[in-house]
Amino acid sequence: MRILSVAAVVASVLSMVLPPAIAATPVVSINLGKTVGKVSPTLYGLMTEEINYSYDGGLYAELIRNRAFKDNAKEAAHWSAVQYNGGSASIALDRAGPVNEALNVSLKVEADKLTSGQRAGVANDGYWGIPIRPQSTYRASFYAKGSEKFQGPLTVAIESSDGTKVYAKAEVEQISSAWKQYTVKLTTGDAVPSSANRFVIATGTPGTFWLSLASLFPPTYNDRPNGNRIDIMQKLVDMKPTFLRFPGGNYVEGNNMENRFDWKKTIHKLEQRPGHRSPWSYRSTDGMGLLEFLEWTHDMHGEPVLAVFAGYTLDKKFVAPGPALKPFVDEALEEIEYVSGDASTTWGAQRAADGHPEPFKLTYVEIGNEDWFDKSGSYEGRFAQFYDAIKAKYPKIQLIATTRVKSRVADVIDEHFYMSAEVAEKKAHLYDKRDRKGMKVFVGEWATREGAPTTNHNAALADAAFMTGMERNSDIVILSCYAPLFVNVNPGGMQWKSDLIGYDALNSYGCPSYYVQKMFGNYLGDVLPESSITDVPLSPKGIEQVYYSVTRDSAKGTVYLKLVNVGGSSQPVQIEIRGAAKIAGDATSVVLSSAAAKDTNTIAEPTKIVPSTSKIGGIGPKFLQPLPAYSVTVLQIECR
Ligand code: AHR
Repeated sequence: MRILSVAAVVASVLSMVLPPAIAATPVVSINLGKTVGKVSPTLYGLMTEEINYSYDGGLYAELIRNRAFKDNAKEAAHWSAVQYNGGSASIALDRAGPVNEALNVSLKVEADKLTSGQRAGVANDGYWGIPIRPQSTYRASFYAKGSEKFQGPLTVAIESSDGTKVYAKAEVEQISSAWKQYTVKLTTGDAVPSSANRFVIATGTPGTFWLSLASLFPPTYNDRPNGNRIDIMQKLVDMKPTFLRFPGGNYVEGNNMENRFDWKKTIHKLEQRPGHRSPWSYRSTDGMGLLEFLEWTHDMHGEPVLAVFAGYTLDKKFVAPGPALKPFVDEALEEIEYVSGDASTTWGAQRAADGHPEPFKLTYVEIGNEDWFDKSGSYEGRFAQFYDAIKAKYPKIQLIATTRVKSRVADVIDEHFYMSAEVAEKKAHLYDKRDRKGMKVFVGEWATREGAPTTNHNAALADAAFMTGMERNSDIVILSCYAPLFVNVNPGGMQWKSDLIGYDALNSYGCPSYYVQKMFGNYLGDVLPESSITDVPLSPKGIEQVYYSVTRDSAKGTVYLKLVNVGGSSQPVQIEIRGAAKIAGDATSVVLSSAAAKDTNTIAEPTKIVPSTSKIGGIGPKFLQPLPAYSVTVLQIECR
């Protein structure tokens, strides 16, 4: 009651000082006696691809940059010769006598002139540094071979970039003259967390040795040996995503046929993965391969939305439907079997051999990515060929088209929106009138693009407005995911502005849009009660200033009411709830707000804008809810 009266006073003061259009009090009416639809259980998920150093230099925990010496054909980028006590070494790429076809180049380290007490070797500077934390164990591994006269030992260390501090060190006593993999553990002591460090492999004995696939892993999420960064994984898990769309985006298509996502080259052991160039200007190790994508999804308790390569590459070339396309269709069928087949199937057995005997649940497969760019019209035939083959073998799999086709009816259509704040707000009504008998919708890539490298609060408000529209229409919008998900914020790390989670070698943060995603994913019911809004105030440009959506947990009765005020003044909203036998007088309120729309979070101020949770009173069949300026509010109201 107290809150009601304060809010009422605020409303009447506002009505005196603001122009009538802004001071209007919107009314949200909710009829719990009538359900108008079900909320898709897969409404909120994640989309990912190798962009902005998402995996290498991002989620994938590998700390060594250019571990297979393939980033640059002429020199060993990110590797340098190091010397101690006047010793010296020279380094060069060597294509003679490689480990295998996938690791077809190695690093030759010549330290032939060392005298007693001298040491020399090679250092890697990582992805903008090698991060260390105290009392942590790192697993270093590398392939090595020595010249006839060189047998080691080799020391392996993590040290400060200038070599003055050694944080962890181990020794490999003997090096064979044939390629062999060596693994050591490096454990830090009481070190202060830092990233201005390097990884060093050195010798005090004169001679020549070669290195290949030099790797260093910190502790990983769920202790996976080829796993993910813990801090970033935790942020993803906290969002409660229900699916992961991978491997793209443009990454599934590639700049050309050679660099498409060729899934068979991303499985097996790391030494069998050649890597390839991502369309986002750098080389991918493919350490994040098909199985790693699946295990990442599994660790988030979600399911994969698998995008298969559909015969179109970003250089605008396509494989003609018919016999030429058949190998790619077969490849997609095999990929589906690798993901979802049991161990009695050929590719299910391969997955088991690769370390994951349990099949993964697979409901959705997307044929290609953004095929509206293919102006030849070949998608019509390409989609049909994939559709027929996949439906014949896997009739239950739901197939997603990336643009409209005429000859087949896709189960789901993928629609992408990269928008300004104004456009996102206007699109909050995009699905209100969509034909309920047509294809279901996957909003497979979308974002309000304001702010870089991660978005600002204004973008988050517009995101929230847009999401209320998807949520109110989640009987037809069955999947959605923001993009891009990640960005390494170091200079040169970003290829695409306006991303969700930023990081450097040591730390990570979520931007305001991240917290909107988290709020929408965490507070969501399974049904849509009948609801409406009236008297929505408009900005001088005619843009709505208040947005809402309401869902209900049908088992518990809890109502989740989301309210967005994109305007710069506090805005009361009248809430009216009908059809409930009992409404608790208190509710949980989660609010994300900031004084200025341009505010944002950064690596230096990672939690400047975060949601705050409180208990509020005065809840009942009718109450006035004040919405702070520039805010997103979720009310969790217990109703029976
Ligand atoms: O998200 C960045 C890119 O935008 C995706 O790779 C592509 O699908 C879209 O055009």
